[in-house]
Amino acid sequence: METNERIGFIGLGIMGRPMARNLLKAGYQLTVWNRSRPGIDALVADGALAAGSPRAVAERSSVVITILGDSPDTERVALGENGIIEGAHDGLVHIDMSTISPAVTRAIAKRYAAAGIEMLDAPVSGGEQGAIDGTLSIMAGGTPDVFDRCRPLFEAMGKSLVYCGPHGAGQVVKLCNQVVVGLNNLAMSEALVLAAKAGVDPATMIEAVRAGAGSSWALHNLAPRILAGDFKPGFKVWQQQKDLRLALELADQDHTPLPGTALVRQLFAALEAEGLGEAGTQALVKALEKLANAPALGDGTTS
Ligand SMILES: NC(=O)c1ccc[n+]([C@@H]2O[C@H](COP(=O)([O-])OP(=O)(O)OC[C@H]3O[C@@H](n4cnc5c(N)ncnc54)[C@H](OP(=O)(O)O)[C@@H]3O)[C@@H](O)[C@H]2O)c1
Repeated sequence: METNERIGFIGLGIMGRPMARNLLKAGYQLTVWNRSRPGIDALVADGALAAGSPRAVAERSSVVITILGDSPDTERVALGENGIIEGAHDGLVHIDMSTISPAVTRAIAKRYAAAGIEMLDAPVSGGEQGAIDGTLSIMAGGTPDVFDRCRPLFEAMGKSLVYCGPHGAGQVVKLCNQVVVGLNNLAMSEALVLAAKAGVDPATMIEAVRAGAGSSWALHNLAPRILAGDFKPGFKVWQQQKDLRLALELADQDHTPLPGTALVRQLFAALEAEGLGEAGTQALVKALEKLANAPALGDGTTS
């Protein structure tokens, strides 16, 4: 359902562009800013208005959405010179949909509270295709009343909306998601290498296992790409490394061992050392092939 919110959108990259377009399609008035020009031009061509800074976006909007890179990027856009905080006015909400540190999220929310700005952290899962299709999973932290106010906006961008708790809780849940994604990728990669080395066609193994308790998104989506020799990104190795670093930093704060996550991060580091940081995360299988002295899957010798 449409509301009369005036929306600001900052961060028109792979995820931000289609998310902003879905808000336009839902009938919202949109004011946009991006660090570089191409993102702005793309959205202005679709009917958005351009503003000169995050501050100017905030001044013209009732809700400002950001989807940027890492914690320092959100901090800069929120609290830096000409940042959102300088455009504070009654009723302003900032929804940060980037994946960043829960601690940094809470620190920004605290600064905002003193300036009269409400904040939600609402990171997403579902990738570029989910952003295009408007089917993202959105996990939100903040106060329940602000979440309820913003629900119609989330419904224009996502399919699953879960309120997770106070400020930072959305980011904590997103990092849990990344732990599961990373370990499912490792499990799928180990099974592929094991099947191939033990003389069973990996495609047959996938067909059998994904129908049962061993099924996962990785087995359905990443394993077939590996067998087809397709290591193009969906989600890049270096992006997954950022998220696993954030998960391990969070775990460190209260002595929570995450041995599996740490292992996946080390294996991805080996790929980065080989110059594969821009590859899709399914390249994890290459690290295991090396350890097993196994021939490369997807080189035409496997179906
Ligand atoms: N890609 C995915 O599949 C995916 C899935 C789920 C969640 N995420 C998360 O979503 C966020 C965005 O990902 P993405 O794939 O859309 O990244 P991206 O294509 O690299 O876009 C990042 C956007 O942030 C802007 N930006 C970065 N640093 C900035 C700064 N310091 N000041 C101002 N603007 C800045 C960039 O501006 P320029 O255009 O000028 O570079 C760009 O518009 C990340 O936190 C990522 O972890 C991504």
